[in-house]
Amino acid sequence: MKVIETAAEIRAARGAMSGSVALVPTMGALHAGHMSLVTIAHERAKHVVASLFVNPAQFGPGEDFLRYPRPRERDLEMFRAAGVGTVFTPTVEEVYPQGESTRVDPGPIATVLEGAHRPGHFTGVATVVTKLFTLIRPDVAVFGQKDAQQVRVIRQITRDLMLGVEVVAAPTVREPDGLAMSSRNVYLIGEQRVAATVLRRALLATEAKWRGGERRGAELKKVALDLLAAEPLARTEYVSVADTETLIELDVVSVIALVSLAVRIGGTRLIDNITLGS
Ligand code: PAJ
Repeated sequence: MKVIETAAEIRAARGAMSGSVALVPTMGALHAGHMSLVTIAHERAKHVVASLFVNPAQFGPGEDFLRYPRPRERDLEMFRAAGVGTVFTPTVEEVYPQGESTRVDPGPIATVLEGAHRPGHFTGVATVVTKLFTLIRPDVAVFGQKDAQQVRVIRQITRDLMLGVEVVAAPTVREPDGLAMSSRNVYLIGEQRVAATVLRRALLATEAKWRGGERRGAELKKVALDLLAAEPLARTEYVSVADTETLIELDVVSVIALVSLAVRIGGTRLIDNITLGS
């Protein structure tokens, strides 16, 4: 496995690859969710490139950039064991050198949901992913549906900027009790870890209500909000029932909807989602 830290070297390594290339962008602190993306990448292309970079541009001022877990050697070992051919793990200075100033603004879809609660987050994501796509020129890139809005944003910028990358969305990998795997789950201590299962329970309750015939957005949201309110350690940021394309809230679910939520458990911010009618 090649471990590459500079833009010049990854560009050269990519140039030397013949046949298809799949990219798996990550911020590390790897878990089975990330590894499922690597498995899909292997199925989709001859060469698998992963990136390992905690991207400062997507963290807000009060967020966890500095304390974000960085178990570098363990991450590299996991990529190696999974048969990743090349890992791109640049420094912050390499990606954002002195004097760089260009930012990628994905437009309206980046301003709702996560974008409304984390201003500038998706500009940071879109900017780093554009840089990765430009350097690595993958045929395919694999992202997790766990971050549904992120997938939507990446599809938008890929289309708009004509980046020529096929964006693949992978199903969410969960702990046995339903909690979506996340690098941030390590922040959860003791009873917080148990309380965190409320996100999945809220989503499943909403789905059950929808299966029972309820189609009104407000009523579907209420089911989730009530369950979340019953968990003393949970502070709800939002529950949304939205159009899967525009991410605009739906009064009535006619065919398909993205139910997404963000909840704080202690100091830890967790997100999850489910698609109704897919
Ligand atoms: P990170 O949070 O490390 O996630 C890397 C990829 O793993 C993302 O596509 C994310 O959706 C996916 N992922 C996370 N948890 C998952 C789970 N439980 N099941 C399936 N996939 C999961 O997302 C980012 O990093 C960054 O924003 C990035 C795209 C790398 C840009 O900096």
